Amino acid sequence: MSNIQKDAVMNALKTVIAPNVKKDLVSANMIKDITIDGSNIKILIESSTPVAWVKEEITKNATEAIKRQIPEASDIKIDFEVNISKHVDPAKDKMLPGVKNTIAVASGKGGVGKSTIAVNLALSLAMDGAKVGLLDADVYGPSIPMMLGVREQPLVKEIDGKQRIIPLENYGIKLMSIGFLVDENTPVIWRGPMATGALKQFMSDVEWGEIDYLFYDLPPGTGDIQLTLAQTIPLTGSVIVTTPQDVSLLDARKGLKMFEKVNVPILGLIENLSYFIAPDTGKKYNLFGSGGGVKLAKELNTEFLGGIPINPIIVEGGDTGKPLVAVYPDAEESKIYREIARKLAAEINERNLKQKSSKIEISL
Ligand SMILES: Nc1ncnc2c1ncn2[C@@H]1O[C@H](COP(=O)(O)OP(=O)(O)OP(=O)(O)O)[C@@H](O)[C@H]1O
Ligand SMILES: [Mg+2]
Repeated sequence: MSNIQKDAVMNALKTVIAPNVKKDLVSANMIKDITIDGSNIKILIESSTPVAWVKEEITKNATEAIKRQIPEASDIKIDFEVNISKHVDPAKDKMLPGVKNTIAVASGKGGVGKSTIAVNLALSLAMDGAKVGLLDADVYGPSIPMMLGVREQPLVKEIDGKQRIIPLENYGIKLMSIGFLVDENTPVIWRGPMATGALKQFMSDVEWGEIDYLFYDLPPGTGDIQLTLAQTIPLTGSVIVTTPQDVSLLDARKGLKMFEKVNVPILGLIENLSYFIAPDTGKKYNLFGSGGGVKLAKELNTEFLGGIPINPIIVEGGDTGKPLVAVYPDAEESKIYREIARKLAAEINERNLKQKSSKIEISL
């Protein structure tokens, strides 16, 4: 007969913060099950964001908290279950049935580092244990296959009597490019309703399987093509990339306005080429001024997800199909990408849980 009470265990767990959601385990609703057998306690923690990177920390802190508050507890076992929260969107769920969340990486201006960021954020979440896909939606110049070192074309296979396009894979993520559908001179066709139809068809013909986060690398700018894409490919949120220069910040504002027009929420802002650290002295140089991204995020009422420094190793990784985060996971820049990806996952999760609770209220 056990005299350890579940309530006592819950009280101890209330003191343990889950860094992936920045809340304690109990308020974050992460305690799925507690089994008590004599002095043995078994806890099942369920996480709706990638948790691999904090499992050890949570396990240690939870064990210590229980031992402190319940001295008679002897064997404490903590298991994790990950079930990434899903954004409910009828258009997305119909076109991409296995895909839980879709995120566009966008900018008002070209060449600010969108594709590099899309690749490294996608890899970051995959390294944290999520199922990740990346769709190169840049009709002008698809670059994702090269950045991920993929040279082949996707296969088309018949599944349940339907022709399905099988995404390519590398470094643990799935990828597909709209570029496989267009030749170099065709972006013009994307303006008409025909283009929208072809795009919808293409989107639903891809066999993504189960995906927690699908990233889109959008073409630069805020013109017709971007608008067509934003309206046609189901989008649950976007991330805006900017550089600290004034013009670029102005462009970022334009990018934001475009998403507002099509009712796509902005999940946050990333500042690229934020600063340079001299390799010999370690001194930090703000080549294009500082604080612009933080200020803009505040002004636009969105989260500042982080700033990425200028580093030639990022260029090298992109050119050789060896993305930084996968190839040099311990580099300072990799840590920054991974931190941004985790913030983004937390932001998406918070919105998903809010959406879920407001749905429940409506149905009550
Ligand atoms: N933090 C960084 N430090 C150094 N070089 C970078 C950084 N981020 C991106 N680059 C380099 O800048 C160039 C442009 O980056 P990228 O292709 O990702 O930009 P983009 O916004 O996708 O461009 P486009 O608008 O043409 O699609 C690339 O050569 C890339 O390697
Ligand atoms: Mg690009």
